[in-house]
Amino acid sequence: MVKVNQNYLKLSKSYLFSTIAQKVGAYTKEHPDKQVLRLGIGDVTKPLTPTVISALHQAVDEMGQADRFRGYAPDLGYAFLRETIAKNDFAARDCDIEADEIFVSDGAKSDCGNMQEIFDEENTVGICDPVYPVYMDSNVMAGRKIVLMPCTEENGFIPEIPDPMPDIVYLCFPNNPTGTVIGKDKLQKWVDRANESGSVILYDAAYEAYIRTDSVHSIYECRGAKECAIEFHSFSKNAGFTGLRLGYAVVPKALVRENVSLHSLWARRHGTKYNGAPYIVQRAGEAVYSETGRAEIASLVDYYMENATMIRDGLKDAGFKVFGGVDAPYIWLKTPGQMSSWDFFDHLLTTANVVGTPGSGFGANGEGYFRLSAFGSHENTAEAVRRIRENI
Ligand code: MLT
Repeated sequence: MVKVNQNYLKLSKSYLFSTIAQKVGAYTKEHPDKQVLRLGIGDVTKPLTPTVISALHQAVDEMGQADRFRGYAPDLGYAFLRETIAKNDFAARDCDIEADEIFVSDGAKSDCGNMQEIFDEENTVGICDPVYPVYMDSNVMAGRKIVLMPCTEENGFIPEIPDPMPDIVYLCFPNNPTGTVIGKDKLQKWVDRANESGSVILYDAAYEAYIRTDSVHSIYECRGAKECAIEFHSFSKNAGFTGLRLGYAVVPKALVRENVSLHSLWARRHGTKYNGAPYIVQRAGEAVYSETGRAEIASLVDYYMENATMIRDGLKDAGFKVFGGVDAPYIWLKTPGQMSSWDFFDHLLTTANVVGTPGSGFGANGEGYFRLSAFGSHENTAEAVRRIRENI
């Protein structure tokens, strides 16, 4: 008789955003007349930009020509995209990352979930609480021991460095769900500690395009990070690729543990289990970095940040305690009247017909908090803020 992976039985029944989608689906089925406003999952709503669309069209046409057709993509991604990324996301920031240290993928979520496979199951894993659930769930599936790192109002939602330092540590800044950013000096301390202890930091930079203040866009801005950190990037939140799928991971060649290159291990894993992001999507990714592409993406990000300001100011003015929303598309707020996160979710859904994400879904320290996303339209965001204010 086959044995199932018992670790899966330790997971909550469904993935947080699937649970929310089911609840909202049940509500809308019962109340088909209600206009439900969704500020829950961080899914963009603005269409792809003209430069991206034109690159997609061009690449589709190439695929229909015998001399331009492309089959399997190279394991690590096409050189045209990796070189563009290295130049724009790293060289331009004085980060010494080469194109062949970049692995193109179908998105940061998959990379964040899969990267743990190159590490032994005995490693301890430091995970923020609250946290984007993928880091936690993927390591629970692998049966690893989790060390929770509390992120609270008291520590400004930036965890203390645990002692002992866990073998693997996930950090995400700008943070999902709290919207917090980290200063370079603080991040440098994590890098130094990881290098002392031989740990590896898995740094999720999916929201770096939202940074407005003087904060770190990449962990490789810190000294010694190439020796201890892997970084994840996404094209979803800045360029709206949530439906196209594109991201990348940086695994520096200098990152070596037990005399083994983690770059080689990830290349082996990537080559074996992954067939590459489609050619047309990689061409679209390249277009994001063109002059027009960059301008369009900047205005997309500005648009969502106007929503963030609207939510932040509107709720603050109504007496809510709010965090985030300055360098991040997420607003983290304290639920009114000590309501539990899920009670507030139900209350908002049924009275205001507004969907958010319960803080406790991101971990025990998220209890009593609630996350709103800035990825809607201006109209829906303004209406959601009005309804929330009216229903508290
Ligand atoms: C979120 O809402 O936390 C994100 O959209 C989830 C994701 O990017 O996978």
